[in-house]
Amino acid sequence: MFQWYKNATRCYVFLSDISLSTATGFSQRSDWEASFRASAWFTRGWTLQELIAPVSVEFFSREGQRIGDKASLDELIHEITRIPLTALRNCPLDQFTTFERELWARNRRTTEEEDIVYCLLGVLGVSMRTAYGEGQESARRRLQAEVEAAGSAPSIIPFSQNNRFVGRESQLAELEAKLFSNEQTTSTLAIVGPGGTGKSELALEIAHRTRQSNKHCSIFWIDAGDKDSLYQSYVNIAQKLNVPGWDDEHADMEQITRHCVVEMSARQCLLIFDNAEDTTLLSSSSSTTKVVDFADFLPQSKLCSVIYTTTNSDTARTLASENVIALRELTLDAAQGMLQSRFARPFSTTEQQEAELLLRALLYLPLAIVQAASCIIASGMTMQKYRAHLDGYKEVVKHSSESSKDKSRSSGIRDPVAATLSLSIDQISRENALAADYLFLAACVNQKDISLDLLGAASSQAREDAIKVSRAP
Ligand SMILES: Nc1ncnc2c1ncn2[C@@H]1O[C@H](COP(=O)(O)OP(=O)(O)OP(=O)(O)O)[C@@H](O)[C@H]1O
Ligand SMILES: [Mg+2]
Repeated sequence: MFQWYKNATRCYVFLSDISLSTATGFSQRSDWEASFRASAWFTRGWTLQELIAPVSVEFFSREGQRIGDKASLDELIHEITRIPLTALRNCPLDQFTTFERELWARNRRTTEEEDIVYCLLGVLGVSMRTAYGEGQESARRRLQAEVEAAGSAPSIIPFSQNNRFVGRESQLAELEAKLFSNEQTTSTLAIVGPGGTGKSELALEIAHRTRQSNKHCSIFWIDAGDKDSLYQSYVNIAQKLNVPGWDDEHADMEQITRHCVVEMSARQCLLIFDNAEDTTLLSSSSSTTKVVDFADFLPQSKLCSVIYTTTNSDTARTLASENVIALRELTLDAAQGMLQSRFARPFSTTEQQEAELLLRALLYLPLAIVQAASCIIASGMTMQKYRAHLDGYKEVVKHSSESSKDKSRSSGIRDPVAATLSLSIDQISRENALAADYLFLAACVNQKDISLDLLGAASSQAREDAIKVSRAP
């Protein structure tokens, strides 16, 4: 949006809280100055970029009478907003520190709490996806990370670093040792393990560590779950690397991908292919049945390293031969650390013992621990009570997996994940049925495709509450 305003030839601001009811149509400054100074327009978050980005901003009263423009009123606007005159006169914003630019929004307000952070994106010259419901603090943390990384090589890591990451020290050390270790060609690694064991989380941690330790390395997170997501990831990379055609919806995807591969070959890169369940992919839509091979997406360069995450050990071996890192449950220590960090308070001795029993029941599986902790915290029940409930759900899950045709080797591991999930959903349905509906929607539709309009609710407050419940920690 910032760029859109910047490209605009003229912008008009209609100030509904300024009235100029002069019969002649001619007004003096004294007629409007007091209400101009007090106008709500100068107190809102998003109007900051509407003021700063365009070259021409013209102000009009409620009656449509022209008051003046950004150039003629710059001294007055400077007094009202404390924004330096040079910034109001469109000098490059990198002449101001991040801190100075953040100050311009300090006393402004937004309806959604996250917007007070998102409205700074263009002003600070960074981009990041919006995630309404994450809360202002999380948005600010992500913005901070984006600003810090702005001087680094172009990268796409769509998730923030997990500040509650625990354990996996040996796997992290192995990954770090093997990245960029092949002097002849690409270093290729695979992280394999059943669903919910923390493969993506481990890859994410390594991505952020690499970004912090090596500012020259471009890191690209690629969703390899299906062909469409894979191509979409390459369109995003093309945008980052200024590859022509990324914004053309009729562009030839294979050509864009080839261009990206050429661009990536010339720089140090870490590519993370998340959810690579098979070595080849079919399109999820029926428009084309052409099979794609990951090999076509890889630069053959010793400057490049690739990490795949997959639940399929055959795929892992085919893609990375001996460089396969297997993940299973967490160690007791790491699992305890993970549970403890969710509660954010020390456990009493009894709770400590109860936590050990609960973790054993959850088979020390990260996803099961996250789900159990969220449910316990949100419902306020004790760990003991939760474990008693869980036993009942485990029985149901066991029965359904025995009767199901899917007898895969990891089904035993999936049981605590499925049981904690069912228990959470039942708990949420009882507390807030709308939140449960949202969760079912989120299970069927890609999260990034869910607009607020899709979340029907009796009132915006009811919607906000339901989002909060469905996103509980
Ligand atoms: N080492 C860890 N420290 C803290 N939290 C973790 C860790 N590993 C996993 N988690 C948490 O466990 C959950 C599941 O992890 P993740 O999504 O990485 O699993 P996965 O193996 O990639 O699953 P899938 O096969 O479904 O993609 C996430 O909420 C994540 O935050
Ligand atoms: Mg994953």
